[in-house]
Amino acid sequence: MDSIERATHWDAVYGAKADAELSWYESEPAVSLSLIEAAGVPTSAQAIDVGGGRSRLAEALLERGHLRPTVLDISATALAGLRARLGPRAERLQFIRADVMQFRGERRYGLWHDRAALHFLCRPEEQRAYAATLNSALEPGGFAVIGTFAKDGPERCSGLPCARHDAASLVALLGPDFDLINSCTHVHHTPWGGAQRFQFCVFRRVLE
Ligand SMILES: C[S@@+](CC[C@H](N)C(=O)[O-])C[C@H]1O[C@@H](n2cnc3c(N)ncnc32)[C@H](O)[C@@H]1O
Repeated sequence: MDSIERATHWDAVYGAKADAELSWYESEPAVSLSLIEAAGVPTSAQAIDVGGGRSRLAEALLERGHLRPTVLDISATALAGLRARLGPRAERLQFIRADVMQFRGERRYGLWHDRAALHFLCRPEEQRAYAATLNSALEPGGFAVIGTFAKDGPERCSGLPCARHDAASLVALLGPDFDLINSCTHVHHTPWGGAQRFQFCVFRRVLE
């Protein structure tokens, strides 16, 4: 699946479904926020939510005190939906429509957050491209909070095959410049009551 096909897929999903019809919907990003808090991520950290879709995480970061969090997503439809929901508060966010595998920004971030985007990258070269973007985007000492389907999580989501991870596979993917500082599994309940097991890991990029 190339980048255009991915964007087309996700635009169609977000165009067709309300939040409560999305399996990954959560009314509050509680696990992400608790991991960010536990890691002691400073509110001065410039944050980017990768594959943020219409998630509540960016507005929660605003409330936590982060200035102008960025939401990156391959789907322009998702970003438009997020803007529409936020209304005037959207002016306090930055939006980037990009494929995470190709994204190269002009600035670096102090917090990289990804809930449920990485697991759509199944091929090793796709996962390496994701790691290369993370390497280019996260400043030394910055934090990465990554949530993916766990090894015993779903094999597919939203009509697409998914990779499944544990802490060891994420450590191997990110490489020696990232220290694993926390990890946990979490069972996400879909809006219709299904259970999806997630693996969350928190990394800190080593100081150069
Ligand atoms: C399962 S949803 C999770 C959305 C959000 N993180 C949340 O927790 O509600 C996956 C998101 O990743 C985005 N996505 C998928 N592949 C992507 C890619 N290659 N680059 C950037 N975003 C991508 C999709 O558009 C979608 O918004």
